Amino acid sequence: MCGIVGYTGPRQAYPVILKGLKRLEYRGYDSAGVALLHEGKIDVYKKKGKVAGLEEMLVGKNLDANMGIGHTRWATHGEPNDRNAHPHSSSNGKLAMIHNGIIENYAQLKNELIKNGYTFTSDTDTEVLLNFIEYIQTNNDCGLEEALRIALKRVTGAYCILLMEQDNPDTIIAARKGSPLVIGIGKGEHFLASDASPIIEYTKEVVYVNDYELAIVKPDELILKNLGNEKVTPYITKLDMQLAAIEKGGYDHFMLKEIFEQPSTIHDCLRGRLDAQAGTITMSGVQEHIEQLKNANRIMIIACGTSWHAGLVAEYVIEELCRIPVEVEYASEFRYRNPIVNKGDVIIAISQSGETADTLVALDRAKENGAFIFGVVNAVGSSIARISHAGAYTHAGPEIGVASTKAFTGQLAVLMMMALKIANEKKTITAEYYQKLLLELNDVPEKVDAILKNAAEIKTIAEKYKDATDFLFLGRGYNFPIALEGALKLKEISYIHAEGYPAAEMKHGPIALVDENLPVVFVATKDSYHEKIVSNMQEIKARKGKIISIITEGDTISPTLSNDCFSIPPADELIAPLLSVIPLQLLSYYTGIAKGIDVDKPRNLAKSVTVE
Ligand code: M6R
Repeated sequence: MCGIVGYTGPRQAYPVILKGLKRLEYRGYDSAGVALLHEGKIDVYKKKGKVAGLEEMLVGKNLDANMGIGHTRWATHGEPNDRNAHPHSSSNGKLAMIHNGIIENYAQLKNELIKNGYTFTSDTDTEVLLNFIEYIQTNNDCGLEEALRIALKRVTGAYCILLMEQDNPDTIIAARKGSPLVIGIGKGEHFLASDASPIIEYTKEVVYVNDYELAIVKPDELILKNLGNEKVTPYITKLDMQLAAIEKGGYDHFMLKEIFEQPSTIHDCLRGRLDAQAGTITMSGVQEHIEQLKNANRIMIIACGTSWHAGLVAEYVIEELCRIPVEVEYASEFRYRNPIVNKGDVIIAISQSGETADTLVALDRAKENGAFIFGVVNAVGSSIARISHAGAYTHAGPEIGVASTKAFTGQLAVLMMMALKIANEKKTITAEYYQKLLLELNDVPEKVDAILKNAAEIKTIAEKYKDATDFLFLGRGYNFPIALEGALKLKEISYIHAEGYPAAEMKHGPIALVDENLPVVFVATKDSYHEKIVSNMQEIKARKGKIISIITEGDTISPTLSNDCFSIPPADELIAPLLSVIPLQLLSYYTGIAKGIDVDKPRNLAKSVTVE
């Protein structure tokens, strides 16, 4: 939520910031703005809407500046408009600030400031924090760094902030708690951003700032301190990311590119880990903690959104293969209830971004209770990756489209390998079945490729049903979470109301929705429940619902019951979710396109949900 960029050095700051904001737009696109230090003064430009609108507004302006900060917003406090856009300026006009996060006690701070004569020009918590810093600076007659440190001790909530000061023309001061910050180290220049994508074309050397740290950033100096004013040694990491990975590479949208990348991202995830011929799975994070994992009394999976759906598939797979009880929790619920977490429990955290606020806090709570945390994360070096005791990266590469696609199949691949490895160690799976599943997993990239070759069939189906107002997605067993995922994808990308249900549960309520206008998507690949789901199709057909089915090649019965069918290659039922989700991703993409929606930036959403 919200993307932030900063630059200090010899280059023109504005082009660096503008390009960076475009890369971070997936984090929010309600408004955009920049603050530039121009001829000894801070100039602030901001505008409701996407970064392109800001760019257009600034054509022809003199933006000459070697230092600046920029922001792309996902609104929390105050509606998306010009006034509430960042950067904000302090009352005396000498400070400018951008913020990603939420200041929870802003109302209390605002009252204090109002009593001291402050007035506000926006509805944001950010302007409150900024003026609170200014107030402390003026009252204590201290420097900005000290004022910030004092202010942050009073603040509750989450933040990553970048501050610039008119009288300090080459210094950006940054601080983080709960929202990400990466600093790129160039030659005589520094770049600051919410993730590494705005930085990689300038330098590969970065520092991930930790919670409760302050960074004082000048062109040729980076000082990190904790809130106690003690210096912290910056830990420099080399970025392993290619520029091409964050560009569209000839596709119309990131979402389409990311869907079509899946044969190679799944391959990358398996590569070096799965050796189907040798019958081995090498995952150091699992191997180093194998005793803990295989002897777990219980596994709790914590995640949100699509990652939560990956957790549901994992629940079915782990219970089947490893015979360990699994519970899957929404992070947002887990963090606020009083969950029972015991020492022998293992927590698996699943997150694409590694920055989801609810997941992060839920993990902190579980850690306090002594749980062992295993992170299944895509974004390398992200907060969840860093707070986990062990983990495995999904290696899907940067995912820019708001809809999670390749990250999901990466999560499934990692979780399947984990389950297989643990089951093999525990001897809860026969050697033959283990070997069969290894070979099948190995074949997934090729099968996904075969599915994608028929994408045009899904496009035709999407165009046919694009005007439906509701959709129902049904699946059983391993395909039930895929039905949920199909419904979520369609909602977020096409704005069509969609519900996912276990197919048999449908007759306990949702069947009342069925009439000749309701498209019902059956995820009905060949598995042990196939005959049952065919009966569910009959039930829908009898009520004149429009059946779209995702079936296994060679199925001759389902097509006779369906209005539209899409076939995928045969696979073991445990592996099938990695394939059956692909046509549903395409369905949502093509429906969104047919409805003229900006599929990479659908309304109200943000890629990385760093507020609760
Ligand atoms: O980065 P995370 O995996 O933790 O994000 C979780 C959800 O916010 C995310 O999966 C969201 O539901 C996606 N927009 C779904 O496509």
